[in-house]
Amino acid sequence: MILPVYIYGSPVLRKTAEYIDKDYPELQQFIADLWETMYHADGVGLAAPQVGKSIRIFVVDASVYSEQEPKLLGFKKTFINAEIYERFGEEEFFNEGCLSIPGIHEDVKRPTKIKMRYMDENFVEHDEEFDGHAARIIQHEYDHLDGVMFVDRLSALRKTLIKNKLNSMAKGKYRADYKSKLVK
Ligand code: NI
Repeated sequence: MILPVYIYGSPVLRKTAEYIDKDYPELQQFIADLWETMYHADGVGLAAPQVGKSIRIFVVDASVYSEQEPKLLGFKKTFINAEIYERFGEEEFFNEGCLSIPGIHEDVKRPTKIKMRYMDENFVEHDEEFDGHAARIIQHEYDHLDGVMFVDRLSALRKTLIKNKLNSMAKGKYRADYKSKLVK
């Protein structure tokens, strides 16, 4: 089922999300809904708080970047209760967007490599290193679990420049070509 994407200004996007266990009700259906919602909106990642559920799950499909990074062919993963325990490598800028912040794209600086523990959709534990586009998308989605959005990571100047747009968005003035809602 396609779920509405919660838009900037919705308080759930600012909450710290809860850890879950495998008995979480209707978890598999929810994960399927996350995928469907993400693809419907042409996203490469989606975190549960973005559909109004404050739990620590996100999905990432980085395969659109496989032309530049062949190892990303078929990269499609569900991350549950993830912990990034190391961020390293150079810091780089990359132009990011977010389904919860339609119409705004900004260069965001992040480390290029991460080490992370997480559970997949079957609650099997993994401990892996990611780099390149995968590390970029994962860090963006992971931020959502802590109520952080990419616009928080911009310079003071860039923040000032987009402030009015964000304020209008939080009042319902935005356009998205996918199902969305602002929930106060
Ligand atoms: Ni986002």
